[in-house]
Amino acid sequence: MTEQKVRVALGDRAYDILVGGGLLERAGEHIAPLLRRPYAVIVTDENVAAKHLDTLKRALALKNVGCEAVILPPGEKQKSYAGFEQLCEALLALKVERRDHVIALGGGVIGDLVGFAASVLRRGMDFIQVPTSLLAQVDSSVGGKTAINSRQGKNLIGAFHQPRLVLADVALLDTLSPRELRAGYAEVVKYGLLGDAEFFAWLETNGAKLLAGDMVLRTQAVARCCAHKARIVAADEREEGERALLNLGHTFGHALEAETGYSQRLLHGEGVAVGMGLAFRLSAMLDLCDAALAPRVERHLAESGLPARLGDVDGARLFSPAVLLEHMKQDKKVRDGRLVFILAEAIGRAVQRNDVAPEAVETLLREQLAAAA
Ligand code: GLY
Repeated sequence: MTEQKVRVALGDRAYDILVGGGLLERAGEHIAPLLRRPYAVIVTDENVAAKHLDTLKRALALKNVGCEAVILPPGEKQKSYAGFEQLCEALLALKVERRDHVIALGGGVIGDLVGFAASVLRRGMDFIQVPTSLLAQVDSSVGGKTAINSRQGKNLIGAFHQPRLVLADVALLDTLSPRELRAGYAEVVKYGLLGDAEFFAWLETNGAKLLAGDMVLRTQAVARCCAHKARIVAADEREEGERALLNLGHTFGHALEAETGYSQRLLHGEGVAVGMGLAFRLSAMLDLCDAALAPRVERHLAESGLPARLGDVDGARLFSPAVLLEHMKQDKKVRDGRLVFILAEAIGRAVQRNDVAPEAVETLLREQLAAAA
């Protein structure tokens, strides 16, 4: 199957994203030319290690690249001060040098954590993303956002630090649980909703086949999302403007994740799915878009097996609109004390707004919770 290459045009920090099936087995070909000495450290978690670590080690060995592996416990709790310390100390114990590369093999947690460690270790090391989840392949591995969580909220301690290469092997998606795959699919839908109406329509037709395992469709979708994100990141690396549109669904989603304790009750992508439905509902309530759009968005998400409405979230009947609003106020997107929402004028036309009255958001949440009761 053909590989697709997407360039993230960031001057002397530009890099390629390669998308295709079987890339992990050929990883050495792509990684070896970047290394300054034939050595790299792979960081992964126990679950991913069991499935993919040997393949990556073999691929590096084929190109005479030696490696060590740091294997961390799985889960979001690694994105903590303690998890960060554990990783930094493990890497330093391996005597990594500033000019070495660290390879992040895993989903969003591993990519964010390893990227942040690489941004500060020895005052900044290079790293390579080998994303194994759909969410990481289409979003978190691209664009250089790295972070750990604070008790005050998600991703509040971090840095912009671009990888040197992203290898997105779509064959690895077969090893995900159906739930995790669907959660990543929410981020795929996001690209259609925020800036590519034609892609959203394509997903309405092809999404089910893609989720069922069609490799060609998966490659096309991941590459299209990465190309979309690469264009946005090249234009607005530090999120001064357009990049914020990638947060469609995230203000609501992060509040829901906080309220459900960043637990298996609601995966990140599931929070984004519900958040996108709410963003379209809020847009309609503020007369920004046609009221028929929210049901269309929710229908596609629900048909894809995702929670699409607030009432679909486990335990939603105990949610308080005021508490959810408090979570939103801790969001990184708060600017000059105002909440920032990504809303929609149409499918494929998202806009950033910082003039949404908190009362309107509270009313929407109250209505949605009442509708679910
Ligand atoms: N995940 C949103 C961004 O990278 O900007």
